[in-house]
Amino acid sequence: MIDLFINGQAVQAEENQTVMQAARANGVFIPYFCWHPKLSVPGNCRICMVEVASEGQAEGEGWLDIACNMPVTRGMRVFTDSARVRARRKETLQFITLNHPVDCGICDKAGECTLQDYHYEYNGSPSVSLEPKVHATKHFALSERIVLDNERCILCTRCVRFTHEVSKTFSLGVQNRGDHSLIRPVEDGAFERDPYSDNVIDLCPVGALLSRPFLHRARVWYLQATPSVCPGCERGCNIDIWHRKSEWRLKALDAKQNARIDRVTPRDNPQVNGPWICNKGRDLAQVFERARAEQALCKGQATDVQDALDRARVLIQAARRPVALVSSWASNEELAAFRATLAPRFDCFVKADHQPAPDELLQDDLLIRPDKNPNTAGAVALAAPLPADARQAFASDCDLVLVWGEGFSFAQLPPQARIIYLNSWLQPENGHADVFLPISVMTERRGHYTNFQGVVSAFEAGFKKPAGVQDAETLFAALFADPGAAP
Ligand code: SF4
Ligand code: SF4
Ligand code: FES
Repeated sequence: MIDLFINGQAVQAEENQTVMQAARANGVFIPYFCWHPKLSVPGNCRICMVEVASEGQAEGEGWLDIACNMPVTRGMRVFTDSARVRARRKETLQFITLNHPVDCGICDKAGECTLQDYHYEYNGSPSVSLEPKVHATKHFALSERIVLDNERCILCTRCVRFTHEVSKTFSLGVQNRGDHSLIRPVEDGAFERDPYSDNVIDLCPVGALLSRPFLHRARVWYLQATPSVCPGCERGCNIDIWHRKSEWRLKALDAKQNARIDRVTPRDNPQVNGPWICNKGRDLAQVFERARAEQALCKGQATDVQDALDRARVLIQAARRPVALVSSWASNEELAAFRATLAPRFDCFVKADHQPAPDELLQDDLLIRPDKNPNTAGAVALAAPLPADARQAFASDCDLVLVWGEGFSFAQLPPQARIIYLNSWLQPENGHADVFLPISVMTERRGHYTNFQGVVSAFEAGFKKPAGVQDAETLFAALFADPGAAP
């Protein structure tokens, strides 16, 4: 370890750490734009300037240098917030904003923009330039998913480095020189095809890179983030699902606008996904905002949940060779509830609720996994996977199948078997089941998923269940209970 002083406090740092890393490890904040813990260090924005004094020198007598690229040395004395440091940061910000439009009032990044934060912390003065600002492209379609405002870009190159160092598509670069510099995609369309492209939106420290689906959709201070897990594949990336705060509910508009997924961002978990997710994880609204099943059915006829449960109980009690197809989207808590109630009564197999879409990337070396279900690992601890030929799971005298979750073709069921179906979505199969019971989705309840590496991640409820919908755990307990018991 190396002993040094930061703002007069004796601290320790590891060999090869930079001053930025040592300061952060010791709880001292140094501002940064271009630096990122998972990217290379270009040292181009200069906002992380600190003062370093030699032995015997006091604060104000040292030299100025950037913390992100300066290795710690034994006995060094670092001042992160001296008068000279603050003056240099002010000059740096005045330079960075020379041609910046300062259009924060219409910028989606407002509320999350570090340029705004540092301006108020270190600058706060109007532009010092007497020249007209150099204009650049205001609305450049970087891809189908991302819009670029070149006037707001501070050329930190985080986005460029991400495509070179993380997603490895080498799909962004800097065109031209000086105040004519522009971030641009390479011409072969590689950025459009980059499955991780939306991470540059989070990486951009200013409002230059914005999500097209989220553009002007909501001010971030009207939203709250619910911790969750992406169910898009067995990686189980940790995410935040952003939705409207209850105190900022919109009035006199479609009620769904207050209960929709406004955006999805990564939640850093070094064991699972680090600070990244793939674009599929950003598009979870397309999964969760499909038409919901909210009505219990018996042979396609609407009934109440109690009647459907009574009929399902009769079917379970009468069955001689019942089979259960267990959902790979079920939480560990739901699986435990199933194990404690119905599982001993059934031959159980785990099915894949979701298959890869025809044009979907199956897997890569970064995050994307071939199994497009979040909790296969948790489910196979309860039961064997369904054979590739599903008919092998059904004995010739199988007389009842409980299907839990979507994705199983009823054409593969034994023709003589009765069907109990638990699902969340409005689908034709619901009406073909002898008993259909609507169940909640993961964004409406809390629970845990186990990913393919055995790492368990928690998710919380961000939305209310629709009326008529129950948690699967509640239904299992009711199906296991004596006839006539309430759900
Ligand atoms: S677009 Fe954003 S991330 Fe990319 S160089 Fe400009 S400021 Fe940095
Ligand atoms: S890699 Fe898998 S779990 Fe992670 S965001 Fe993409 S689809 Fe979701
Ligand atoms: S953060 Fe150090 S130079 Fe940009």
